[in-house]
Amino acid sequence: MQEKLKDLVARATEEAKNIKNEADYLNIKSKFLGKKSELSELMSSIKLMSTEDKKKFGPLFNKIKNEFEELFSKKLEEAENVNDKLTFDPTLPISEDHGSLHPVTIVGREVTNILKDMGFMIFTGPEMDNEYYNFEALNVPKTHPARDMQDTYWLDNGMLLRTQTSSVQNRAMKKYGAPLRVCAPGRCFRNEDLDASHENTFFQLEGMVIDENISISNLIYTMEGMLKEVFKKDIKVRLRPGFFPFTEPGFELDCSCTICDGKGCSTCKNSGWIELCPCGMIHPNVLEEGGIDSTKYSGFAFGLGLTRLAMMKYKINDIRVLNSGDLRHLEGFNVR
Ligand code: DAH
Repeated sequence: MQEKLKDLVARATEEAKNIKNEADYLNIKSKFLGKKSELSELMSSIKLMSTEDKKKFGPLFNKIKNEFEELFSKKLEEAENVNDKLTFDPTLPISEDHGSLHPVTIVGREVTNILKDMGFMIFTGPEMDNEYYNFEALNVPKTHPARDMQDTYWLDNGMLLRTQTSSVQNRAMKKYGAPLRVCAPGRCFRNEDLDASHENTFFQLEGMVIDENISISNLIYTMEGMLKEVFKKDIKVRLRPGFFPFTEPGFELDCSCTICDGKGCSTCKNSGWIELCPCGMIHPNVLEEGGIDSTKYSGFAFGLGLTRLAMMKYKINDIRVLNSGDLRHLEGFNVR
């Protein structure tokens, strides 16, 4: 018996040296201390021993058992210390396998930061909204034909998925009053047939400035300043008439082509201009509905398509990849 125990202790001590992680620890523990282990078998043979041997081996078995437990735990602890040191070694090279921001997120943050520097506050509204904020407060009553242009998803509870970030206009006016400089980036939805340039889910950024004596010149100046920062070069803008029930007058804003700087190329179809963002002077009805005195204050607003801007900036020619989760298209902008 003495010999057997000696041999067992020697083997366990040798094998304990191989404990490198918790799995090794559990395996060795089960091998040397488990119900079917040699030690357990030896221990169960105690009942067949003489009283004298019982007195001698009983405490010895227990001592060996405790020693094994201590030894295995100690070896695991040592291994974990080594592993920790390895994991936190600051000199190891950083893995190249990391995520990157979505192109729309990058562009959205860029534009919002620029507007923040220009004194705009950032405001957000809900994606699930009601008819009032999305339409009625924007001078689009139930029967208005303009509703046809923005078909959306209606929910069982009578609410809808907002079709435009303009839905924040009334909320911001009521909450902060005039004067006001606010921008609101966010997700919008429309019931669209999907193709390379139409998605049912896209991002816009609403901008709005209300103060005394705000005119179209302020709109042009602000847009030029913002686009210059976004594209990191001088950008010219021009306004064409556009109809939006919540503007008077309303415009389509074009910017000089960012590829050819206005000289004419295939992107701008040789016109030198790219259609960028609808905008206009806020309709007096909309100001009044927001609790703002339209005889004292005026304002302009714009709805910048962040999805469109990201596509322009990163030369993505199919809008559908942006929501696809296809990493081949979405990674590689290398911004963390
Ligand atoms: N909300 C409009 C749309 O999605 C865009 C728009 C037009 C926003 C004119 C404005 C604006 O703030 O003044 O079609």
